[in-house]
Amino acid sequence: MSFSDWITARFRYRRFARGGHNIARRCATLQPYWEPHLEASRAVQRQWDVKGKRLLVLGPGRLLDFAVELAERFQEVMLLDADPTATPKWRELAGKLKGRVAVDYDLRELTLKYDPWQMYFAERLGSASPRSRWATALETLRHMIAVPAPRLPAADAVLSLNVLSQLPIGWQEIVEEVLIDSFGKKWVREREQEWVEALLPSGLTLVQDHFAAIASTRCRHALVITDTHYTEYRGVAAYSRGSYAPPPAEGEHTTWSALCNAEVDSLLTGWTRRTLGEWDWHIAPFGLESEPYGTFHRVAAWRFDREPGVAR
Ligand SMILES: C[S@@+](CC[C@H](N)C(=O)[O-])C[C@H]1O[C@@H](n2cnc3c(N)ncnc32)[C@H](O)[C@@H]1O
Repeated sequence: MSFSDWITARFRYRRFARGGHNIARRCATLQPYWEPHLEASRAVQRQWDVKGKRLLVLGPGRLLDFAVELAERFQEVMLLDADPTATPKWRELAGKLKGRVAVDYDLRELTLKYDPWQMYFAERLGSASPRSRWATALETLRHMIAVPAPRLPAADAVLSLNVLSQLPIGWQEIVEEVLIDSFGKKWVREREQEWVEALLPSGLTLVQDHFAAIASTRCRHALVITDTHYTEYRGVAAYSRGSYAPPPAEGEHTTWSALCNAEVDSLLTGWTRRTLGEWDWHIAPFGLESEPYGTFHRVAAWRFDREPGVAR
């Protein structure tokens, strides 16, 4: 491993570990608001009538939203997530299922694109003249280099567990850090809309690749649980921490796609799609976290089945 690869790997490790700790902390402090989403995620897995030799779980994290009953219908469960701090939870699951289900894991960065894209982006910025650097940044973001879609281990069924919408967000966070290094926080924050829009094509590639990766396992069945839209709202009274209340209907709302405007039905051709559930996750009620707005996510659980006769 070269020195720069080593630095990148360390950097990546810290990013995912930080993300995992944040999830655990927010889940504990906002428990009444998070639990309905976690339970809805587990409920669709119980309802998903699949079984077989191997189940692949993408984005298991701390398994907060995972239904153990699903694992029990397989001989093997393979967990793929880049956060090393979640491994004690995976060992706990292995202990629970001992003798009935073999649990294995792989600390894999699922997109395979973060590192090459980050290096390319930083190099392009480094070689641009100061006057053309911002234009170069936007142009580079709009036309990221091609990197092959990831291939995943073979499986009978794949569960994508609240990770898909995180893939473009992870890339956005990397881009923001690189931009801040080059231009400073003030400049980057003031031009957020401009650079976030320039990121849409590469974000969409990450979403499309996730489905290509699912198909690469040659599985027949997949369950994708994901945020589909984000909404920020303002102009309402603060929420209380003690018990659940739904997102407000009133106030000022701004909603955008969590999947970079992907057309879901074009993502897996030759597969049928059925919606097993849809719900709002009131992830950050107004007044309970530091932001001057509240947030909720629209979440969907889609069941995909490969049509008979379609090559695997
Ligand atoms: C929002 S969490 C999902 C909740 C998770 N199932 C739990 O109960 O903690 C997303 C998970 O996906 C993982 N993840 C996000 N982006 C990833 C990537 N590019 N490669 C691998 N894992 C990723 C994170 O480490 C995290 O565990």
